[in-house]
Amino acid sequence: MKYTLAFDVYGTLINTAGIFNALSQLIPNEDTAKRVTDTWRNKQLEYSFRRGLMGSYVDFSIFTKDALQFCVEAYQLDFGEAEIDRLLEEYTVLPPFDDALAGITELKRAGHHLYAFSNGSTSAIKKLLTNAKIDTMFEGIVSMEGVKTFKPNPMGYRYFNEQSGSKKEASWLISSNSFDVIGAMAYGMHSAWVRRSTAHIFDPWGIEPTQVIGNLMELPKVLEKSGMK
Ligand code: 2OP
Repeated sequence: MKYTLAFDVYGTLINTAGIFNALSQLIPNEDTAKRVTDTWRNKQLEYSFRRGLMGSYVDFSIFTKDALQFCVEAYQLDFGEAEIDRLLEEYTVLPPFDDALAGITELKRAGHHLYAFSNGSTSAIKKLLTNAKIDTMFEGIVSMEGVKTFKPNPMGYRYFNEQSGSKKEASWLISSNSFDVIGAMAYGMHSAWVRRSTAHIFDPWGIEPTQVIGNLMELPKVLEKSGMK
């Protein structure tokens, strides 16, 4: 069976921990750089949830900057405009995960329909995927900017099915973010949670992913077995 696959971007195809290298050049203490990396990502997601609930949509890049500004104040970092701009530029060209290209190449070869599906704007995702040299593997980019809210709003998953011309019963959300997986499952899509580290814990909500994979290379076999049921 050929499925339509919605690939989350930040944290699934693209490694947001890649910003750690840029932060390490500005923050001598490695432990502080690691904590800032984590706080930045967590604050960025928190702002997306809050803005979604408030109905206060802005481009993802706006509160990516706000979350960085929070870190500057919380960790009393001596960052000026130049450092902020450099870090935000780095965020637009983050590296892909090592398994991304091989995994999506195999899935495309198997005949599945691949889309990038993200809170990020279409232009930001296009730049990220092009820089990562994986943009041509996708039939399209579906951005939550089209519904002016953020994951895990069910409007987003419905919008994905509309934009990709797919039915939820024949589509999978592929994400390392458990909030995204739970949102897609609650809406009615299948899901594969990409658990690249055993340190990553799935939220104990009683909603389980359809499948759990350690990297994207495992997905072709999982889909093949799923299609045979
Ligand atoms: C996304 O790419 C934020 O990872 C989430 O939509």
